Amino acid sequence: MAAPHDWWRDAVIYQVYPRSFADGDGDGTGDLAGVRARLPYLAELGVDAVWFTPWYVSPLVDGGYDVADYRTVDPAFGTLAEAEKLIAEASGLGIRVIVDIVPNHVSDQHAWFRAALDAGPGSAERERFHFRPGRGAHGELPPNNWPSQFSGPTWTRVPDGEWYLHLFTPEQPDLNWAHPQVRREHEDVLRFWFSRGVAGVRIDSAALLAKDPALADFEEGVDPHPYIDQDDLHDIYRSWRAVADAYGAVFVGEVWLPDAERFARYLRPDELHTAFNFNFLACPWDPARLRRTIDDTLAEHAPVGAPATWVLCNHDVTRTVTRYGRTDTAFDFTTKAFGTPTDLALGTRRARAAALLTLALPGSVYVYQGEELGLPEADIPRARIQDPMHFRSGGTDPGRDGCRVPLPWAADAPHFGFGAPAEPWLPQPEDWARYAVDRQRADPESMLALYRTALALRRSEEGFGDGPLTWLPADEGVLAFARTGGLLCLANLSATPVALPPYETLLLASAPLDAAGRLPSDTTVWLRAPRNAG
Ligand code: NOJ
Repeated sequence: MAAPHDWWRDAVIYQVYPRSFADGDGDGTGDLAGVRARLPYLAELGVDAVWFTPWYVSPLVDGGYDVADYRTVDPAFGTLAEAEKLIAEASGLGIRVIVDIVPNHVSDQHAWFRAALDAGPGSAERERFHFRPGRGAHGELPPNNWPSQFSGPTWTRVPDGEWYLHLFTPEQPDLNWAHPQVRREHEDVLRFWFSRGVAGVRIDSAALLAKDPALADFEEGVDPHPYIDQDDLHDIYRSWRAVADAYGAVFVGEVWLPDAERFARYLRPDELHTAFNFNFLACPWDPARLRRTIDDTLAEHAPVGAPATWVLCNHDVTRTVTRYGRTDTAFDFTTKAFGTPTDLALGTRRARAAALLTLALPGSVYVYQGEELGLPEADIPRARIQDPMHFRSGGTDPGRDGCRVPLPWAADAPHFGFGAPAEPWLPQPEDWARYAVDRQRADPESMLALYRTALALRRSEEGFGDGPLTWLPADEGVLAFARTGGLLCLANLSATPVALPPYETLLLASAPLDAAGRLPSDTTVWLRAPRNAG
């Protein structure tokens, strides 16, 4: 096991999307009261920490990633005092809390942005954002051609004629990170939460903060990109690291960068502790590609001494069982599309196998709420869609609501026990009773039972978590590796059953072995090797 201060090197971190986890006051929106009531569930599941997506005051234009005040909790979710209680209660159960900081942009309702609009062109208030005159004879064209992170334009014009930059929606103006007040403010916000007992911070859009000072046009294939992965970011994160070190707190960066060497720079010893490994999430259920991604991930982390993170799902991507069940492989793996053909039984089988594969890898693992229940992506009726991504795509992209549906807790209760009397903010599919926590608790074959057993073993068996991984010779289509202490993991991604190596104990399998004791297709097993085999 890692030393106590290095808990994050092999932690299992559960992601709570507060709006959809549990509704304590019955108004249809999840809240902190709901989370507090369900903390025993998380303790029983066996997670080490919980990452909360933003709970701050927000108009919720982008699910809370449009923050109006970083120092208080949105009344829809509760109060700051309640967040403090939650942090203390979680800690009492051995669960650490990670909050989500959104430094790239604020809500258009944030005091700084309102002041900037009021103060007008040329004011000091506007310098904290990226305000510019437009191009064209009358300033009627946006200041540059930057592509958006969501679809649609990245500039919006205000009535006095200036334009402001927003990489996401117009309600999320980008901050100017070259401004000392912006840096000071965020360091202060970090201290605010660390001093309340928060053990870590997830950094939203971590590679986007710094912008080319000239705001020059984007040119395809020309490096550096004017707003992704600018070198100035590293100085920002070095100062953040100093703040975190004073509290023994840690960071996980949302860094979507395909270039391994550039990615690893964020993980140098004086920068971020960890960053999400999205290449693994984006990898299809293909043995050669998974093996290459695992190898590349471990190789890119090794020189900087940082542990890898493993993520199968989050609140931005199609849920795991739906992705793995896609029968039309022409789809890019993370694409969201209406009516994608899916085989849920196959997807569930693979998601079970993927869970055991992931939990056996060296490093920390993130579990997105509902993954432990095997929830599929829900089809949201068009009239109920809320995600701005849908609207900004002109209605062609279903957006991310399908992975954000309120959780089913009790099969026979109104709204499956999410909360009552009000309707949940997003509709739950009618057949979700079968995924309800109470039903899965009573079923030893359920996804929930698999996760609970796996997490318990991952804790009790010393070889899991941080440490070396050794690939073993294996049949075509099989990923087989050893961890220290004789732990073996075999994932069969081939179409036929394969024989197992000699073993002393079968610790856990994602599906039963066949009658001949072989590992069936789309199944992962954890074994303990015979002691004399070393
Ligand atoms: C990444 C977050 O995960 C996503 O939900 C959000 O829309 C964008 N960043 C913008 O903050």
